[in-house]
Amino acid sequence: MENNLNPLRIAVFASGTGTNFQAIFHAIKEKRLDAVIAGIITNNPGSAAKVFAEENGIEAAVINKKLHGEDNIENAIIECLEKWETELVVLAGYMKKIGDPIIEKYKNRILNIHPALLPSFGGKGMYGMHVHEAVLESGVKFSGVTVHIVDNEYDSGSIVMQEVVPVFDTDTPEELQKRILKEEYIIYTEAIKLFADDRIKINGRKVIVKGENAEN
Ligand code: GRF
Repeated sequence: MENNLNPLRIAVFASGTGTNFQAIFHAIKEKRLDAVIAGIITNNPGSAAKVFAEENGIEAAVINKKLHGEDNIENAIIECLEKWETELVVLAGYMKKIGDPIIEKYKNRILNIHPALLPSFGGKGMYGMHVHEAVLESGVKFSGVTVHIVDNEYDSGSIVMQEVVPVFDTDTPEELQKRILKEEYIIYTEAIKLFADDRIKINGRKVIVKGENAEN
């Protein structure tokens, strides 16, 4: 059920283009998602994500080693998240590993999107075009999108939602990436909506969507 009095407060982390961030922003604007982007965190002062945030009146905090020193990054991030009264952290092309203090503090409340069907084609070094190149080299006929909860390993947390995308013999990595990105925009919004509507229950490694089956 929608609760317009109390929209979910999300913080988006993005390092690059931020097209997923933009898709979430538009979903909120078009009232497909009852949430507020309280702020964005980026390590990259030159990112298009930061420009988009600023153009749209969203606070963008640049937090990186150079500005804060390696040991202060987590504190600086937590300070922002607290100030923004963050309820859900949404990683959208954020190229840095999330430190343990943040994972502890926001346990089961940090989401990431990965452009393949985890647990295949994930882990350290599997980002951007590397993922699609590896998928094409492997010869699999399907790839897809995974939204998962972030834990302290790369791409290993509990899976919230997945969508399958076909791989064609003629695909270049760029063509596959484009087809997958289109699905990313749809399912990231849907996954965030599950949190906004309080429909997520975690049972061990499993994410159960309340009301999806007769039993829950
Ligand atoms: C997406 O492919 C996402 O799955 C991955 O990083 C990419 C970010 O793209 N985590 P964008 O910055 O949202 O355009």
